[in-house]
Amino acid sequence: MSLIPDDVIEQIRDAADIVGIIGEHVELKRTGSDYRGPCPFHGGAHRNFAVIPKKGMFYCFVCHEAGDVFTFFMKKLGMDYPTAVREVARRVGVTIPERGPTGPDPREPLFTAVATAADWFARQLRDTAAAEVARQYLTARHVELEQAYQLGLGYAPKDRSFLDAMKGLGLRDEVLLEAGLVVKRDDGTVGSRFRGRLLFPIHDVRARVVGFGGRIVDEGEPKYLNSPDTPIFHKGKLLYNLHVAKHAMRKAERAILVEGYFDVLRPVLAGIEEVVAPLGTGLTPEQAQLIKRHAPHVILLYDSDDAGLRATFRAGDELLRERLRVSVATLPPGEDPDTLVSARGATGLEAVLKDAVDVLERKIQILERKGFFGSLPGRRRALDRLLPTIRAASDPITRELYISRVSEVAGIRKDVLEREAGTREGGRGTGSPSTQPVPRPSSPVLLPSSAEKSLLLLVLEGEPWKARVLEAVDPEEIEFPPYRAVFEALAEDAPERLDETAARACELLKAEGLAGRAPDELFERAVNWIEARRLEREIAKLDGLIPLAAPEEQPELLAEKRRVFDALRVKYPRYKIAARRGRGASGT
Ligand code: GTP
Ligand code: MN
Repeated sequence: MSLIPDDVIEQIRDAADIVGIIGEHVELKRTGSDYRGPCPFHGGAHRNFAVIPKKGMFYCFVCHEAGDVFTFFMKKLGMDYPTAVREVARRVGVTIPERGPTGPDPREPLFTAVATAADWFARQLRDTAAAEVARQYLTARHVELEQAYQLGLGYAPKDRSFLDAMKGLGLRDEVLLEAGLVVKRDDGTVGSRFRGRLLFPIHDVRARVVGFGGRIVDEGEPKYLNSPDTPIFHKGKLLYNLHVAKHAMRKAERAILVEGYFDVLRPVLAGIEEVVAPLGTGLTPEQAQLIKRHAPHVILLYDSDDAGLRATFRAGDELLRERLRVSVATLPPGEDPDTLVSARGATGLEAVLKDAVDVLERKIQILERKGFFGSLPGRRRALDRLLPTIRAASDPITRELYISRVSEVAGIRKDVLEREAGTREGGRGTGSPSTQPVPRPSSPVLLPSSAEKSLLLLVLEGEPWKARVLEAVDPEEIEFPPYRAVFEALAEDAPERLDETAARACELLKAEGLAGRAPDELFERAVNWIEARRLEREIAKLDGLIPLAAPEEQPELLAEKRRVFDALRVKYPRYKIAARRGRGASGT
């Protein structure tokens, strides 16, 4: 019988509906948060047998039989452990990686190669003259060397000593390549992937080193370089420091999510260990699930600039889809967790965490501060920002609370909000990359937008077009998810943050280029089109609101609709004229 990895077993146990499964054998009735029925083991008639879904356990108060969903199958149906696990896995749709009856994990050589490399890099940092630059870097950042060694940090030198050392240890080039430790050059020879970088080892949940994040220590680009995805390293499915944090997360009943390696490291050194970070990308659904396995509550602790806020709310929606409780802690402007803890220690961080507010509440605060709720159009735009978060909240109670709160703050009736938020549950596990409202079929102009593409082509064209586009269009208005990702990455000058799909989209766009099209005409048409779409949606929304609004609000809403309508009429002739004439006046 083959061995099933512990993390897979844990995943199966978490996914299993223990009430449903035991309910097939025992007649269960709900009592409070537990379920009760006659005990199938000692056979009493009273409801002494309890199933406790929150703990994934069953227990008989009379005969004291107890266990989890696997034990139930073993005791009730006489299965052995692996068979019980497989049976539950089949029901919850988890695939157990097959590795043959007794054969070793074929990925074993990769684990070995990465572990060997990690040791070697760590030794360089400690012992070699070449690593002096990295030691000085750490000292300058106020990380004590002893602490850095203890955390397993390493240094990748610039010369070829890594290649020689690995060869000396009997590691073949093919294995090093597959492990992402070396790259193939154009002439067919191999070179080290990491050169002149401070390396953060990245572990899987079972605490095996599977890859590295490398920060440049003197001159060079990019600032951070990660291992590429390999059979053992999947950027979107790992969290930095989870192997340590998971224990602390269970104890503290919370996870703290930060943006970067140093942001994890600093609190950990200060004794706050329940801290994890994604690996330089947006939080994925898989990562949200990973967190969910160890803690019910996440505090987001990102930079408080605009980019940080965008990332915060994107991650927040992802976590809400996993039914986690999500709070946002706010750092003083210009600080990140690294600088804050350096300056004020764990106490400083705890103070910031203590003031964390619910993610929806944080959105409302920001919108309030910007004056969104002061006018009708503002309230409508505020709703556009709040609805994705309501939609993301898969937990029915959270969702209900959110609807009540938004109803109160925006002065919109709950039933209207409920309808706007739609019946669509959070899209759990679909890997859907964005929380944008699904385009409503009633709007005629929503089909694949060549305008969105034109805008990206212009951004790729460089200045001055890039600046003009960024000024005219918010990233939220690009709806095609890969384009949106490209747009955001370019807006933030972080092309390395693209996921695979978006990177491919970016390549295709670059290859296409403007192909002789006049940029000013393209710009005007695209911006015009986006504005027209914006206005059409406002009208559709007003049409939905008007019949439901209080009588005293009706005249104002109708006047608003007329204004939007006029604005739209102005756009259309301009759109048609722009299509015909060669050169356009500048857009808005
Ligand atoms: P320091 O400048 O070292 O303090 O880094 P930071 O953690 O403050 O960096 P920043 O806020 O710029 O980035 C947060 C995280 O995004 C980093 O820890 C990386 O994981 C990732 N990141 C930043 N810059 C790059 C980059 O150039 N390439 C890649 N792949 N990831 C990056
Ligand atoms: Mn930093």
